[in-house]
Amino acid sequence: MTANPDSRAFRDALGSFATGVTIVTATDAEGRDVGLTASSFNSVSLDPPMILWSLARSSQSMAAFREAAHFAVHILAADQDPLSNRFAKSGTDKFADVPIERGEGGVPLLTGCSARFECRTAYQYEGGDHIIFVGEVTRFDRYERPPLIFHGGRYALAARKAQALSAGGAIEQPAGSFGEDFLGYLLGRAHFQLYARMQASLGAHGLDAWDHFILSVLGIGDGRSIAEIEAVIGYTGAHATPERVRSLAARGILSADPDGGRLWLTEQGRKTLVELTAAAKAAEEDALGAFDENETALLKHLLKHVIRSTDPGLPDPWLATAEQGA
Ligand SMILES: Cc1cc2nc3c(=O)[nH]c(=O)nc-3n(C[C@H](O)[C@H](O)[C@H](O)COP(=O)(O)O)c2cc1C
Repeated sequence: MTANPDSRAFRDALGSFATGVTIVTATDAEGRDVGLTASSFNSVSLDPPMILWSLARSSQSMAAFREAAHFAVHILAADQDPLSNRFAKSGTDKFADVPIERGEGGVPLLTGCSARFECRTAYQYEGGDHIIFVGEVTRFDRYERPPLIFHGGRYALAARKAQALSAGGAIEQPAGSFGEDFLGYLLGRAHFQLYARMQASLGAHGLDAWDHFILSVLGIGDGRSIAEIEAVIGYTGAHATPERVRSLAARGILSADPDGGRLWLTEQGRKTLVELTAAAKAAEEDALGAFDENETALLKHLLKHVIRSTDPGLPDPWLATAEQGA
């Protein structure tokens, strides 16, 4: 098997190896800061502590790194893709307005990353059209920030694999049934199990899920009509019927404006909603307890995609508030 290194296919095959993203920095002979985005970083030795990365011979920073006695490698955090893009562009002032600290030998140190390694240049090796730099780590910092991932030519987020719900192996599905990976089942089961946690709080206030939906919409922005509430919650199968609204008003949770038929949360209604929201947040926290910050962000991000791709054109309850406020 041969590989033409210029071929798209070779690059694509290399891209199947998921890496983190780093920015490597140093100063040149005139004391100017240099740096570039590099995913070729890897660990080499624990004792002594050593790392490596490789630099394209075509890089404008080549002379500076060849001569530098020190350099620093920054493992970028999940939200630092804009910084990665900035340091991947040659011929620009990459450090403009970027807050920096100074390390050993005056090396510029970036902030906000997941980890940072200050190195003494130990070895340089020929590596085809790249030079391989091996650094001995003289100092390092680790921060609790999830890392930025690079895979298949795109940025990605790291998520640990979830344990399968069923303990056994793959179960053959009878024709016409769906398996445990069916999205509708997963979303539905997650929703009902999460919402079941709310029932006790709703029950304590003598409310049900439909009441909760109505209160939630008014909590985002009240002064809405029954029809406006219906437009927001109707997709769930819940209805803001006049009887239901009258019952909530009779219990002092809502007040209705007699002219326009608009509804407002009373002080008691707002207090009830605050308690229900606290219960919902606690249920969410428990459900996401096994996830780190990055996985939670990823899960919500993907769910928003599903919501967008299946949206029949529902009004945005948050946008409606802004319009009402205008
Ligand atoms: C995710 C990513 C990873 C990269 N990895 C490397 C690398 O390991 N080595 C390298 O020489 N260039 C790498 N590059 C390209 C350089 O960042 C880019 O060529 C940069 O403009 C070089 O800057 P300079 O010419 O100012 O030195 C990477 C770019 C990106 C976006």
